[in-house]
Amino acid sequence: MMVASSNGVVAWRRRDVKDDPVLAILGGDRRRPARLADKRLMRVLRCFGDVAVGAETVRTQPELVLSPQQPGDEPAPQLFAFREGAGLPRQPRNIVYSVFGRLPLGHRIFTTPGIEPLVVTTPLGVTELKRRAAGGPPPPMLVENLLDPAALRRAHARLFAEAGVRYLDCEGGQTVLTALHAAGLLDEVFVTITPFRVSETDHEGVVTTFDFETEGARLIAEGHAVADETWRFRRWRFSER
Ligand SMILES: NC(=O)c1ccc[n+]([C@@H]2O[C@H](COP(=O)([O-])OP(=O)(O)OC[C@H]3O[C@@H](n4cnc5c(N)ncnc54)[C@H](OP(=O)(O)O)[C@@H]3O)[C@@H](O)[C@H]2O)c1
Repeated sequence: MMVASSNGVVAWRRRDVKDDPVLAILGGDRRRPARLADKRLMRVLRCFGDVAVGAETVRTQPELVLSPQQPGDEPAPQLFAFREGAGLPRQPRNIVYSVFGRLPLGHRIFTTPGIEPLVVTTPLGVTELKRRAAGGPPPPMLVENLLDPAALRRAHARLFAEAGVRYLDCEGGQTVLTALHAAGLLDEVFVTITPFRVSETDHEGVVTTFDFETEGARLIAEGHAVADETWRFRRWRFSER
């Protein structure tokens, strides 16, 4: 799942910690009804199985915990009840993709009680994560050469066989989504298009979402919040699996 500006921008190279592309794409004001709808959709999509994210998103978003109810959220008993009813653990596993293992192990994903992290990484990443754990236990890891699409597919077959992963909700960033798509692993993308336009010349390293139609994806659903029709909630399907 991703959120994009009206002209498809999902991120840019941050100048400093205050330069937050996601916040800008969402248009600031947290109380906006469509923004709340986007947040709720994101939390709902965390309910069906496990959740994954790229290392750079972990590095740039210290607030992130891939849970139906993040710290600071209103209570979401119905989302946890859904998981319980489906025979799933209370919290989705938090899977992080990292090639080099340069992960901040003090991040909430690795320290929140009840959250089970799993780093999908390479042999180089294992060395770095052990070094960062400084004699303590490193986070659980699954090791494959992620830069090779066939190995990335193998990593997911192993997530299925060894870790019981069935549905995997990847929340980006675009680097990881592009790698998953290149390996034929991306079935669907939920993308929220906000009405805010981002000037591509105002930022460096601007990244845009997929050009879904050119990529052969099919738009299988589109919705909006009743209170604000200017935001579009789209569900694109790449594969017919
Ligand atoms: N608009 C949205 O909805 C949205 C969603 C998520 C994130 N974001 C924003 O997007 C930015 C981060 O996105 P990003 O695209 O730069 O990074 P990303 O996709 O979050 O993470 C990239 C990292 O993933 C690791 N990786 C694992 N497998 C890989 C592979 N096969 N190929 C390449 N890298 C692989 C590498 O980690 P190592 O460097 O550790 O080796 C790489 O640096 C942040 O600003 C974040 O806030 C926006």
